[in-house]
Amino acid sequence: MNASSVIRGGTVVEASWSGPADVLIRNGKIAALLEPGAVVADPTVQTIDAVGKLVLPGGVDPHCHVGFTSGEFTSLDSYAECTTAAVCGGTTTIVDFAIPRPGQRPLDAAIAQRAKAVEGLCDSALHGCVVEWDDTTADQLKTMADNGIRTVKMFTTYAGESMADAHTILRTMQTTRDLGGMVIIHCESDAIVVDAQTRAAGAAGIDAAHMACTRPEIAEAAAVAEILAIAESQHAPVYFVHQSTAEAVELVADARKRGLVAFTESVTHHLVLDDRAYTGEEPERFVCCPPLRSAEAVEALGEHLFTGHITTIGSDHCCYDLGQKQSHRHDVRAMPNGLPGVETRLPVIFSRYVNDRGLSASRFVQLSATNPARTNGLYPRKGSLMPGADADIAIWDPQTRWTVGVDQLHMATDYTPYEGMELKGRPTTVLVGGHVVVDHGELVDATPRGRHIEANPLDFREMAIGCIPMA
Ligand code: URP
Ligand code: ZN
Ligand code: ZN
Repeated sequence: MNASSVIRGGTVVEASWSGPADVLIRNGKIAALLEPGAVVADPTVQTIDAVGKLVLPGGVDPHCHVGFTSGEFTSLDSYAECTTAAVCGGTTTIVDFAIPRPGQRPLDAAIAQRAKAVEGLCDSALHGCVVEWDDTTADQLKTMADNGIRTVKMFTTYAGESMADAHTILRTMQTTRDLGGMVIIHCESDAIVVDAQTRAAGAAGIDAAHMACTRPEIAEAAAVAEILAIAESQHAPVYFVHQSTAEAVELVADARKRGLVAFTESVTHHLVLDDRAYTGEEPERFVCCPPLRSAEAVEALGEHLFTGHITTIGSDHCCYDLGQKQSHRHDVRAMPNGLPGVETRLPVIFSRYVNDRGLSASRFVQLSATNPARTNGLYPRKGSLMPGADADIAIWDPQTRWTVGVDQLHMATDYTPYEGMELKGRPTTVLVGGHVVVDHGELVDATPRGRHIEANPLDFREMAIGCIPMA
């Protein structure tokens, strides 16, 4: 068979199976998976050695903010910087957000953000965002869907910035449903959060050390319950971003049992870090929304990686640096929320859950690549090694032990919330469209080959037949 390269000797891991296979690549696509050794050595074909390694579809990060402006802060990375970090961490597709600034049209935000895709080292897709409904919103959403932007982010919090009211959420759900898309939503009851913040300011304190009590678990549960009711009333699919408690995840799982098409995303930091981080010397390093929860809550949330109730794992990457995080550390209401994590998502989850807790490598791929591709209309082009898929591949050494340190990472910031964490497993070679961009763990090709990938209409029947639990 005519191929441009072959990955030999590894164990291919797909969401639904794994086993020894050689991977043939031609014209930037997967050409075939073959029995090990079936291809005769040919000097015109580049051979990539994967003996002792796992061969994974490149990660798909469904939740990645690039150069994101909120209030007075803008996160620090460009597409080139964010995707450099992504590929070094084994992720080969990011899904970014086009969140309009106050007064900006959602469509204009999407057009501006989409134009940046070509600066990326890997491909990207985009979530739109609606904050306020007006007479033009339905047409804007139609234009976005026609251009492959079908998932629409909404917020129940951040009043005056990106919070939408219930009417806007309902209308957006109706419209995206009919356009083959869905609303993806940040759920925290703003009323409960504002009350908790006000009480904290008058008592315990509102500095970063008190982050956890300013956004309590009940704020998340309350908003999830309301959004589920709106979605059920409209028979509209819905995807909950960064669910941080088992209770929130279970509310969604119960709604699925009642017939709603609903998905749960969890993010790395909620699955691995806990609120003891706020008792340390630099609690501002860990300020994110929802906040880190108790160790017991983290344990209970992590269980749902095994039950199947968590659909995807994202990073919620926000590349602020310590200067930004420290500038308002005395008052979390004024701080930039969010943690850098596009590069650490896969290694941290692999180490903590596959190595330490026995999550299967296939489920890891399902959560971190295949399901994110499915729920974003990118599958099977992304998130799979099936013939015809883009040859975006992470060759993974499951045995290497290493210690996370900001010096070895590529994110455009000066800290990582995982500093000093000892991990086992990391990508060694990463291919984007058949090109080796990371080799022996080092970036070797920084060519900007990124494309904006248009989402196909979401096919929930196909997702049910595939690997996503729908009930
Ligand atoms: O703290 C967070 N998550 N910041 C990023 C914006 C968002 O809410 O996703
Ligand atoms: Zn959010
Ligand atoms: Zn986010």
